[in-house]
Amino acid sequence: MSETTATPVAEQPEPPASDEQILRYRPGQRYIHLLVAVSFTVLFLSGLPLIFEPLSFLAAGGYSRIVHRVAAVAFMAVPILYFIVDREGAKELIRESFVFERDDFRWLMQMGQYALGNAKDMPPQGRLNAGQKLHHALVMVLSAGVVFSGLLLWIGPFEIDAPLQAWTVVIHNVTMGALVLLLVGHVYFTVVYKAINNMHTGYMPRYKARIEHQKWLAELEEQKGSSSATDTTHTTDSSAEARED
Ligand code: HEM
Repeated sequence: MSETTATPVAEQPEPPASDEQILRYRPGQRYIHLLVAVSFTVLFLSGLPLIFEPLSFLAAGGYSRIVHRVAAVAFMAVPILYFIVDREGAKELIRESFVFERDDFRWLMQMGQYALGNAKDMPPQGRLNAGQKLHHALVMVLSAGVVFSGLLLWIGPFEIDAPLQAWTVVIHNVTMGALVLLLVGHVYFTVVYKAINNMHTGYMPRYKARIEHQKWLAELEEQKGSSSATDTTHTTDSSAEARED
């Protein structure tokens, strides 16, 4: 076992400049994620004046309503665009997010330790850890709730059914609130595990994958054995040999 596996990720020293990087997100996936992050943030900010009385002055002139609808169209376009730019990535994301194995349940039982920044001795994980699976699966289900309730509010036949409209508003606000809470957790883990680069550059250091995604790394190494995996890895310092410790 390498010495890096014994140290919690959040307490890891800076990796050497030559540490080998592994491809985690292809460019299309990164741009789609950017669209999700921006459209969701705009949806949240432009939605607040519509439901929160002290901010209602921001809705004056109806501009926040227009901004909200433009962001809603961008948010709804995400699954379609994902399938267009990276069909395999989209299918993989859906498949992996909803499949939980025994190690995932064990991982969730120990999640408190992971949340405190200590990934040491956590049950081995695949490309997504169980927390990411839970997050991504909930994002998909709750987003469906936000989108369908939002569409009903936008184009629904409510002049004939006021109680249905009231319930639709409740569903819209509750599902959006739950997504905001998930986002707080999502950003928390991004910061604690210094993961922003995974999405920014598309690559993650091998030493981190060894600690956090052992099963995924084993799969990649197996593939590398049978075919050339040179297109999925690179070193941050081209003058140095890839580190394989
Ligand atoms: C606004 C700030 C956000 C930040 C800083 C952020 C950060 C990240 C990072 C670092 C990853 C990659 C983690 C890994 O290594 O696997 C990721 C993935 C992901 N994030 Fe975010 N995120 C943000 C917003 C959102 C929002 C608003 C949503 C959904 C409503 C979201 C949903 C996802 C999903 C589904 C993935 C997996 C992407 C894929 O497999 O294609 N993120 N995010």
